[in-house]
Amino acid sequence: MDALQALNNRRAVLRFKPDPVEPEKVKLVLQAAANAATAANLQPWAFVVVDQAHLARQVAEYLVKAQAECVFKALLGMPDDVTARQMRAYAEFDKAPCFVLLCIQPKVEFALPEHRAALHEWYLLNAGGALANLMTAATALGLGTRLFSNFTLGDRGQALKGLLGIPEEVDLVTITPLGYHEEGEPEEPPAQTLEGIASFRRGEPATLPNLLRGRLPVQSLVHQNGW
Ligand SMILES: Cc1cc2nc3c(=O)[nH]c(=O)nc-3n(C[C@H](O)[C@H](O)[C@H](O)COP(=O)(O)O)c2cc1C
Repeated sequence: MDALQALNNRRAVLRFKPDPVEPEKVKLVLQAAANAATAANLQPWAFVVVDQAHLARQVAEYLVKAQAECVFKALLGMPDDVTARQMRAYAEFDKAPCFVLLCIQPKVEFALPEHRAALHEWYLLNAGGALANLMTAATALGLGTRLFSNFTLGDRGQALKGLLGIPEEVDLVTITPLGYHEEGEPEEPPAQTLEGIASFRRGEPATLPNLLRGRLPVQSLVHQNGW
């Protein structure tokens, strides 16, 4: 698969096979992530690979619980029955054999104090680049990923950091499962419209699949030679 195919074929995956991922493939994926560009070449990241079955299951359970409680119920205000329906998609998520956590080790001491806050914004931009590389490399190797940030709502990140012994001063940015999956060749995502998003916000759950899969037409996002 060439780079463009991998970029365009990537889809967020939830249904994994329990088969372990070969260590060489994990290494290739992490190498691609760590080769992303970083501001001032600071390479502020660290990756935690969780592939012990009992730990991976705990991470999966964490994310599933947070998805229901923090995202569907608290953030989006879904009633219990709608949340339960949406959570069916996560029913087999605990099969995921491996998780990769992306952490940022903030290195700010070298900068003048007034610029240190801006460095954190750089770090998040850097993390985005690493994650894009990671997901693209995984796709190219036939592996599935899905970024999770639901644990950043509330104080769940702290508990995950505790579970995995991540030091206090290190920021846990995001988590993705990594594994072979059962979702087949990705379909062309449906067209997305901003009205679809607005109607979802008005509480019309029928639009959710479109919201979660759809793509805004790229020409609606691009301005030529000025806005
Ligand atoms: C920054 C970020 C955070 C995300 N957080 C979650 C999450 O907490 N739970 C989840 O199920 N999916 C999460 N996702 C996955 C998105 O829902 C998914 O990428 C989106 O629906 C588009 O689908 P696609 O990746 O197949 O194009 C996240 C994606 C990104 C980029």
